[in-house]
Amino acid sequence: MTKVNDPIIIGGKRVKNRITMAPTVKFDFAGDDGKVTEKHIKHYRERAEGGCGLICVEATAVTPEGRFGKNHMGLWDDDQIEGHKTIIKDCHDNDVVVIIQLNHTGITGNPEFGEAVGPSAVETRDGRMAHDLTIDEIHNMQDAFVAAAIRAKKAGYDGIQLHGCHGYLINQFIMKKTNLRTDEYGGSAVNRARFGAEIISKIRQECGDDFLISVRTAGADPELKDAIEVAEEYVKAGCDYLQVSHGVGEIDQTLVNGSEPYNLICSLGVHFHEHFKSRVPVSCVNSLLDPDNIKYLIENDLTDTVDLARAVLADPDFPKAVLGEKDSYVRCFECARCQYGPFTAHKCPAEMKRMS
Ligand SMILES: Cc1cc2nc3c(=O)[nH]c(=O)nc-3n(C[C@H](O)[C@H](O)[C@H](O)COP(=O)(O)O)c2cc1C
Repeated sequence: MTKVNDPIIIGGKRVKNRITMAPTVKFDFAGDDGKVTEKHIKHYRERAEGGCGLICVEATAVTPEGRFGKNHMGLWDDDQIEGHKTIIKDCHDNDVVVIIQLNHTGITGNPEFGEAVGPSAVETRDGRMAHDLTIDEIHNMQDAFVAAAIRAKKAGYDGIQLHGCHGYLINQFIMKKTNLRTDEYGGSAVNRARFGAEIISKIRQECGDDFLISVRTAGADPELKDAIEVAEEYVKAGCDYLQVSHGVGEIDQTLVNGSEPYNLICSLGVHFHEHFKSRVPVSCVNSLLDPDNIKYLIENDLTDTVDLARAVLADPDFPKAVLGEKDSYVRCFECARCQYGPFTAHKCPAEMKRMS
């Protein structure tokens, strides 16, 4: 029986246990220059010391236009490389594999940074009409992801994660609602996956075989079968690790059996694991806030690893409690304040409890 403490090899890297820290953006930690700050360093150092086997550093913009806002970390410029080195050293000193999530907002782009761009000219959430990328612009956008991955490698990261879910650019190519293209980037699952898959191949070519490439993919966008076909394309292109989350569409409720101790979003990862078993490691996420649920998933071979976001924001030492290295922890209150940003204004009650 696999235990949560058992190591696993992912993309040639030995990960000391089955716990990954999921990417969680810190809206008020960076400034307009997109550089790493002391706040980031302290934040990730605490989590590196807290027992995770792998940390995925938060969504990081590949172009200034692809940021959430002016307080969002970026890797669009060589000047942004240096600050990451301390985060990476702190992770490596704690035997933590560290990767960074690369993102572009696409049609959800912040109007401050110009027009919204995406696979097709569809209406954006704020009522604008998105510009549909030409083939040359698609290639330039892919190059921006590759250039950011090369910078991540120069900084010393063990790999990168492409943000392929939650409705951002790579996910917009997958969703039929936002991708109306009739060329080689639209239509079939293979074509809709092409934008992300070509980025993966290029990163593999530029960064080599020992650079871990993960995709955080939408487990059902529009449906599980389609999402698996898309993920197969990512794997063919060189993806080493599938970290499964959700898109923005409805998810088929029948994919989860209500008696299991995990939710519908987490069940998408379970289905992926069943499909990719022994070929590609898969991670599940969502509402894994209690050690018993996490152990259940690992010990019953329902997933290879678990991604934890709020549990590790609430208490950096939560992984130690799951691993049996600590008796107590402060549980996430599920108040969602951390999602409102900025963090300084919306304090995490679990963090306040820990500090008191
Ligand atoms: C404060 C906060 C920031 C987040 N930032 C990101 C991000 O940068 N990239 C991403 O893919 N998901 C992000 N997410 C989603 C989480 O990674 C995770 O999928 C979600 O919170 C569910 O997991 P949990 O129940 O363990 O919190 C964020 C979530 C929170 C609460």
